[in-house]
Amino acid sequence: MRSTSRFSALLAAGLLACVSNAFTRNPRWTIGMSQCNLGEPWRVQMNADIKKSAEAYPELRVIFKDAQNDNLRQCAHVEEFARQKVNLIIISPKEAAPLAKPVADAFRSGIPVIVLDRRVMGNDYTCFIGADNKKIGRAAGKWIANQLKGKGNIVELKGLMTSTPGQDRNSGFREGIAGSGVSVIFEADMKWLEPNARIEMESALARFPNITLVYAHNDPGAHGAYLAARAAGREKQITFVGIDGLPQEGQMYVRQGVLSASFEYPTGGREAIAVALDILNGKKVQKEIVLPSRVFTYENVGKGGEWLKE
Ligand code: FRU
Repeated sequence: MRSTSRFSALLAAGLLACVSNAFTRNPRWTIGMSQCNLGEPWRVQMNADIKKSAEAYPELRVIFKDAQNDNLRQCAHVEEFARQKVNLIIISPKEAAPLAKPVADAFRSGIPVIVLDRRVMGNDYTCFIGADNKKIGRAAGKWIANQLKGKGNIVELKGLMTSTPGQDRNSGFREGIAGSGVSVIFEADMKWLEPNARIEMESALARFPNITLVYAHNDPGAHGAYLAARAAGREKQITFVGIDGLPQEGQMYVRQGVLSASFEYPTGGREAIAVALDILNGKKVQKEIVLPSRVFTYENVGKGGEWLKE
């Protein structure tokens, strides 16, 4: 065959494949995925995990919506999904109180709802999937008290305290350090955001000449604090600990020596699709699915971290 005709034959075959694909790919179910924001790498990863898992099932189509960190916009997205009568909703909500009503309304109208990572108030949803933030906070507290041998001044940079992971990472941590002798000398709500963490840390640095360690409720927060300390020439005197432990973020900071530890907070994206399929196929699912978590340190990050016990 001459090369031009071989090329046209290939082109025709390719076109045919595309066309037949478009006709045969006829998803049976539509899932609406409401993401509270895509500002942090962790949420981009969650969506990527959902997309990748869903792609293995031709019967699924997922529509993604990004609320850009705005409760009202996220409420509108959930209401829109309910009006469209999607077959199932996955939501990773911004805050527990404002999102409770649209989630409850969708659930009561007969649409199954999977709540991922942050919780909503009440019980009107099908299934909650997430790691145990209280346990992670407690493990971080114990790890820190142990590292500091029960002595040191801590800055706690908290996640949004109207979201449940922020509340649990705070209360768990306080339990973990209780009775150890380390003390929290400065605390602030950085609302999960790196630029806020940097600003709060600048205030802490200005007020306190002796800061031993920063415990931030997520890795962007810990990194923001590190940048503030580095700008003040004090990063070498301070230890930084964060939560999330993504390979491309927390684990990388640990390898670089920027963070001393990062506690894993799995996105749950893969599990959400598995549970969604069970629900759509009429199987009964548990109301609450707790995901395991690891701690990554310089010593163990190359070996896959260490699972949290308890
Ligand atoms: C991203 C994030 C993560 C954190 C999670 C808690 O928005 O702040 O860093 O672990 O949300 O819901």
